[in-house]
Amino acid sequence: MRIAMIGTGYVGLVSGACFSEFGVEVVCIDKDEEKIDRLKKGIIPIFEPGLEALVESNARARRLTFSTDLAGGVAGADGVFIAVGTPSRRGDGHADLSYVYGAAEEIGRALTGYTVVVTKSTVPVGTGREVERIIRQVRPDAEFDVASNPEFLREGSAINDFMRPDRVVIGTSSPHAREVLRQLYRPLYLIERPIIFTQLETAELIKYAANSFLATKITFINEIADLCEKVGADVHDVARGIGLDGRIGRKFLHAGPGYGGSCFPKDTLALVRTAQAVGAPIRIVETVVAVNDERKRHMAQKVIEACGDSVQGKTIAVLGLTFKPNTDDMREAPSLSILPALIGAGAKICAYDPEGMDEARKLMPHVTYCGNAYEAMEGADAVVVLTEWNQFRALDLERMKRLMRTPTMADLRNIYDPEQMHEAGFTYVCIGRPESGVSAAQDGGGE
Ligand SMILES: NC(=O)c1ccc[n+]([C@@H]2O[C@H](COP(=O)([O-])OP(=O)(O)OC[C@H]3O[C@@H](n4cnc5c(N)ncnc54)[C@H](O)[C@@H]3O)[C@@H](O)[C@H]2O)c1
Repeated sequence: MRIAMIGTGYVGLVSGACFSEFGVEVVCIDKDEEKIDRLKKGIIPIFEPGLEALVESNARARRLTFSTDLAGGVAGADGVFIAVGTPSRRGDGHADLSYVYGAAEEIGRALTGYTVVVTKSTVPVGTGREVERIIRQVRPDAEFDVASNPEFLREGSAINDFMRPDRVVIGTSSPHAREVLRQLYRPLYLIERPIIFTQLETAELIKYAANSFLATKITFINEIADLCEKVGADVHDVARGIGLDGRIGRKFLHAGPGYGGSCFPKDTLALVRTAQAVGAPIRIVETVVAVNDERKRHMAQKVIEACGDSVQGKTIAVLGLTFKPNTDDMREAPSLSILPALIGAGAKICAYDPEGMDEARKLMPHVTYCGNAYEAMEGADAVVVLTEWNQFRALDLERMKRLMRTPTMADLRNIYDPEQMHEAGFTYVCIGRPESGVSAAQDGGGE
C-alpha cells in the first residue's frame, strides 16, 4: 500500500506517521517548504508527545517521506488523503474550503491509475461530492472514488487516539474504495476497534455532530458552574454526580474558561451555518457558540474581581497559554481573549507556558514571557492558572507566597482545592466551587 497525505499539520503528520507505523508507505506533502525541509532533517514542527520518535523510526525505515511535490506523491498512490486546514471563513463563519478544493484540483491533475481520494479534513456535508466534481472536471478520464474519513484524534494524545480510536468512520458508496480503506485500517480490526461504514454525507456530518455535542457538554457544565456559584453548590460534585450515570459519562464535564482550540470553535460555527443554510437550524448549538464566546470575555472580569475589582497598575502572572495542555496549539485559546482584556484594564502580564510561548509571542507581543512558573510570579499581585499543564498542579504554595506581592490565585481550571488554598493564606477564586470545598477533596475523587 502506498498513500499520500496532503497537508502535514497536526492531523496530516500524525496520521501519516501512524499509517507508516502500520507498514504503509507514506509520503507527507505540504506547500510549506520550510516545514518539509525541517521534517526531512528530523525536526518536528509541532509539539505532540511521542511524535518525534515515531517520525524518526519510520523515516529511517524509509516508509515515511516528506515532499513538496504533490504530483509526484499522488502519482501511483492507492489512497490520497486531504488533511489541509478548514478554518472559519472570515465574515460568515462557514468553513473555508479553499485549501480543500485547491488540493482537489492539484490531485485531479496528478492521478494515475485507480486511486481513492479521502477527505480527512473536517468538511461540511457536500464537500466530498464537490471534491469529486472538481477532480472529474480537471480529469474526466481519471479512475477514482471519493471517501470521507473524518479524524477524531485529540492534540496531546494524538498518537494513541489514532492507534486506538473509539471508532473509525468511513463514508463512501464505492465498494472498491471501502476495500482500500479497510485494508489500510486493517491493523485496527485486529485490536477490535469498531469501523463504521456510511454514506459520504453521513460521515461528514458525524464529525460535526460529535464536536458540537462535546462542545455542548462543556458549555452545559460551565453554565451549571455559574449556577453553583450563585447557590453555594460545588460543580466538581455535580459533575461527578451526573457523570457516573452511564448515560451521561464523566468526560468533558470539567468547568473552565470556555472551550477553544483548532476544532470546536470553528466546527460548531460551521455546523450552525450549514444547518441555517438548509433551513434546519440547530438552535442548541447556536446558543452554545454564543454562550462560549461570552464566557471567554467574562473570564477577564472574574480575574479582575479576584484582584479587588481593579488590575490597574497590577502585575498578573499567567500560567498556561495554549488552549489545553500537551500541545503548542494557540488557535482560539481562551488566553487570546483574556490577556488582551486584562492588559486593556491596565495590568502587566508575565506569562509562562511550557510549549506555547513561541506562537504566543507572535500573537500577544505585549506580554512578558518568562522562563518558568515561579519566574512569572515574582512580584505578581495575582496568578491566573489558565491551562492545566501537569507542572502547574502541585506548585510550592509557600514559595509562591514569598515571591508574590499578594497571594491571590484565579484558578480557571479548578486544579486546586479551595479549602487548602484558603488555609495556605491565598485569596482564591475558581469556577463553580464554594469558598471552602469539602466533598470532592474528601472522597479523594479528582477526575
Ligand atoms: N488539530 C486537530 O486536533 C484536529 C483534529 C481532528 C480534525 N482536524 C481537522 O483536520 C484538518 C487539518 O487540521 P490541522 O490542525 O492538521 O491543520 P494545520 O493547519 O496544522 O495543517 C494544515 C496543513 O496543510 C497545508 N496545506 C494547505 N493547502 C495545501 C495544499 N494544497 N497542498 C499541500 N499542503 C497544503 C498547510 O501548509 C498546513 O501545513 C482540519 O480540517 C481540522 O479541522 C484537526
